[in-house]
Amino acid sequence: ENAQLKDIIAHAKEYGFVYPSSEIYDGLQAVYDYGAYGVELKNNLKRLWWETMTRVHENIVGIDAAIFMHPTTWKASGHVDSFNDPMIDNKDSKKRYRADVLVEEHAAKLEKEGKEEEAKQLTAALARLLEAEDLAGVRDLIVNTGIACPISGTTNWTDVRQFNLMFSTQVGSVAEDASTIYLRPETAQGIFVNFLNVQKTARMKVPFGIAQIGKAFRNEIVARQFIFRMREFEQMEMQFFVRPGTELDWYKQWSETRMNWHLALGTPAEKLRKHDHEKLAHYANAAMDIEYEFPFGFKEVEGIHSRTDFDLKSHQEFSKKKQQYFDPEVNQNYIPYVIETSIGADRLFLLTLCNAFTEEKSEEKSRTYLKFHPAIAPVKAAILPLTKKDGLPEKAKEIVDLLKYDFNIIYEDAASIGKRYARQDLIGTPFCIAVDHQTLEDNTVTIRHRDTTEQERVSISELHGRIAEATSF
Ligand code: GAP
Repeated sequence: ENAQLKDIIAHAKEYGFVYPSSEIYDGLQAVYDYGAYGVELKNNLKRLWWETMTRVHENIVGIDAAIFMHPTTWKASGHVDSFNDPMIDNKDSKKRYRADVLVEEHAAKLEKEGKEEEAKQLTAALARLLEAEDLAGVRDLIVNTGIACPISGTTNWTDVRQFNLMFSTQVGSVAEDASTIYLRPETAQGIFVNFLNVQKTARMKVPFGIAQIGKAFRNEIVARQFIFRMREFEQMEMQFFVRPGTELDWYKQWSETRMNWHLALGTPAEKLRKHDHEKLAHYANAAMDIEYEFPFGFKEVEGIHSRTDFDLKSHQEFSKKKQQYFDPEVNQNYIPYVIETSIGADRLFLLTLCNAFTEEKSEEKSRTYLKFHPAIAPVKAAILPLTKKDGLPEKAKEIVDLLKYDFNIIYEDAASIGKRYARQDLIGTPFCIAVDHQTLEDNTVTIRHRDTTEQERVSISELHGRIAEATSF
């Protein structure tokens, strides 16, 4: 892990954003818990996404489907048969790797060493073998290229096997009656199977969308880079149902809308890029990712996919229930086509944290702060009485009461005011409000701004409006 990511992980833990799951037992790989400020930040991101989807667009409504679904769902979606990663074990270290990732990482190393042609040939060979589902060929490629296990340093590899990423468990109390069900690997299928329920009961007309936020689970073999790739994570997905033939226009529109959303949240344009998929999944006729430049390079944050009628058609086939919509405008029955926007809440969280993490070093002083857009900052304002006496705490608490029903507010009276400002900088609080003796006389306070550290005197009656304006999106 590179130095900047290490700093961010340490900061996230130290200041109450993200902890390894069940840390007292040394953690659980690729599973994380969110702390006091982390949960606020994550909820703010989810709420913003939810509101931009379901409030801004009158033709998008939400649902909250269960994590457990009928097992046939995953037959129909293709996950039982093809939601696989090719894996390989090293016989000496007994460590398991994703075979494709081993090759890709080796190619990246060659490229760094200036052996670009060799790297290119290697990735092309891998793509050909994966396309042909030639797992023995992938193993030969690894062995012949001399790719060694990073732990044991040997090339003593097993065969390459397909490894399904879905977690399964049993429902039913008696072994004979029990049946295998899966923890959903994506939230999208909960939307597809409810397509007609929602369309009818919310009286939606195509084009319309269904949005959902919820947990998804994948038994990722390569689980690294902090909360970038987790085994339990949260997705925010929206399926937009359109008339067949119009999907590529909608695909273009949603690609732009989603990119603009990231820019509006304060992510700099130079840190974002589009990546069009050259190789399309069997169900897609267009697909792209929005990538962000993490400390470990440009990586996918969100996917926008034109999924055709693949999912609804397949559910119609497996369930024997018609998944058609009657379009009064063209007087036709059809299975709608679908544009999907899909983003991981945790990945967006990591983007936000990386983007906000700011270290300023100058000769006089250095400081670290989290430069969150005020709309997503976990704490909007800290109310700080200058001293613990003369009625200042009581006055400060009056201000807390004035604001706490609308904003997440912190009250803090320990330590020097400078230390308290620094502490708020570390959790990204945009406003520190200092209460002093003058406050008792004229009902004014000092607002100290996080990014500039500038201070200004304002009346208490202005505070609510000021914070509301700054934190609106
Ligand atoms: N329904 C489409 C779908 O699930 P995906 O590209 O597999 O597509 C969509 O996932 C998004 O979910 C990704 O762009 C990423 O933000 C997030 N995501 C996927 N796997 C993840 C994981 N293991 N950990 C964290 N986020 C993940």
